[in-house]
Parts: sequence; C-alpha cells; structure tokens
Amino acid sequence: MSNWKETTEDSKRRWETNADFWDERMGEQSNRFHREIVRPETERLLSVNENDKILDIACGNGNFTKRLVELGANVTAFDYSEKMIENAKRRCAHCIDRIDFHVIDATNKDDLENLSFSAPFDKAVSNMAIMDIADITPLFNSVSKLLKPGGIFVFSTIHPCFQSPGMRRITETEDVGSGIRTRHGIQVFEYINSCCFEGIGIVNQPVPQLYYHRPLSELFAFCFDAGFIINGVSEPVFNIDNEISKYDKIPPIIIMRLIKIESYK
Ligand SMILES: C[S@@+](CC[C@H](N)C(=O)[O-])C[C@H]1O[C@@H](n2cnc3c(N)ncnc32)[C@H](O)[C@@H]1O
Repeated sequence: MSNWKETTEDSKRRWETNADFWDERMGEQSNRFHREIVRPETERLLSVNENDKILDIACGNGNFTKRLVELGANVTAFDYSEKMIENAKRRCAHCIDRIDFHVIDATNKDDLENLSFSAPFDKAVSNMAIMDIADITPLFNSVSKLLKPGGIFVFSTIHPCFQSPGMRRITETEDVGSGIRTRHGIQVFEYINSCCFEGIGIVNQPVPQLYYHRPLSELFAFCFDAGFIINGVSEPVFNIDNEISKYDKIPPIIIMRLIKIESYK
C-alpha cells in the first residue's frame, strides 16, 4: 500500500456513510455475530478486572465500550468516524462518567499521541477493526507505549486464511451411497500478499467498506516488532445448530491476546 493517507480518507468516508446503518443494526446489544462469535472469547482473553483502565480501539457505536464498563472497567474509547462517536456517546449516556470518548485516526501517530494523557492503560482491546485500518504500524507501536509493562492487548479480526480477497463460499452435495451428503466450504484464491479490497460487512449496508488483508505471518510481525508476545489465540466457530451460518467448521475470525514485554523500550 503506497498511499496510506488517501486510502484512509476513502475508508473513513465509507464508515461515515455507513455509521447510522451500523448503529441501527448493532442496536443496544450488538448483533448475533458479535454476541456469539466475537464477544465471549474476547472477554475470556481480556479477563477484565474491577477498575481496569482499558483502551477501546475503533469502538464503533460503543457497544463493547458499554460492556467493558458493565464489567467494572474505566474506558478510553476512540474511532475516526465522528458519527460513530456521536452514536456511541448516545448509546453510553447512562455510564458516560466512566468513559472518555475521542475522535482519533488509528493510522495517525500525532492523533494517537493525544492518548498519552490518559495512559498508562492496563489493557487495550480492538474488536473487528484491525482489518479495517489501512496502516497498523502506528497503532501497534502506540498501544505498546500506552500500556503498562505486562499490559494486555486483545484484538479480533476477520480470519485472513478464510476471509481472503475474492474468497468464495461453496456448498456441495454428494451421493455417498447411504444418502446425500451436503458440505459447506471455502475456496481461497489469494492469501500471501497483503492488499486492499472492497467488501460488505453487513448485508444492505449503504456502501462497501475497505478491507486490508494481511497474511498471518505479516500480522504476527506487526505484533513482535511493537514489542509484544502472543500468549493466547482463539478461532471461534458457529455452533452447528445456529441459524445464521452453515460454516460451523471454519472460523470466520481470529482473536489474539498480546502481552507487552516488560523490558521492551
Ligand atoms: C467493523 S467496525 C467495529 C466497531 C466496534 N469495534 C465493534 O466491534 O462493534 C470497524 C470500526 O473501525 C473504525 N475504523 C476503521 N479505520 C479506523 C481508523 N483508521 N481509525 C479509527 N477507527 C477506524 C470504523 O469507523 C468502525 O467503527
């Protein structure tokens, strides 16, 4: 990716356009995807303690921010979309005394620097946004600086092995003699090169968003280069009986827990 500024401006315009639709679809409790796939494992890996100081990165309409407060945390939360933050403030009005909201672009080092006034944080979290952020070097480096030594950073993102550019979902039926077997799978055509592609996060959203695909080796390198080790990984799948996806053997997302190395400067 050569022009971070331009692609970030484009992606921000798209999120501003989608912000009210996103807010309406996520509602007060988030959608089922978030509640059943993202949230349980994120909460397990983050393990929130009473009075933890937590940074919520790219917080969207603030649903998880609100959840962190329910779990006892004091939260600083940001997003680059003014409209998202406006909606988040409204959704979190009843607990706003425990939250500090900011409009900040995660690709902008100077913007991120403003968070140092609230640092150090015990933990940081980013739900389903790393794949939406054009350049993650400034973010990973800043989070590393903003966390206490030994601090935890948990992030979830679309699984790059199975949600890669141009991926196809397929359903095959096969006569296996004793009956017809139906299997749901994924065809992957591109993986190893990082790239930007357009996609739909929620059906009927006003405009497609921009995704930034990174193979796992590249994603891990961002973590290691910023002074983190990975000490937890989860690949949640849908329960076989669920109504929203037949892909119960292929994880749609990956969640990682990073720890800031104590001695890292
Ligand atoms: C898929 S939504 C997830 C929102 C929220 N974390 C959740 O789980 O409900 C992705 C969010 O990332 C935000 N975002 C994308 N790029 C960003 C950037 N460079 N800086 C800050 N926020 C960004 C978008 O505005 C959007 O709110």
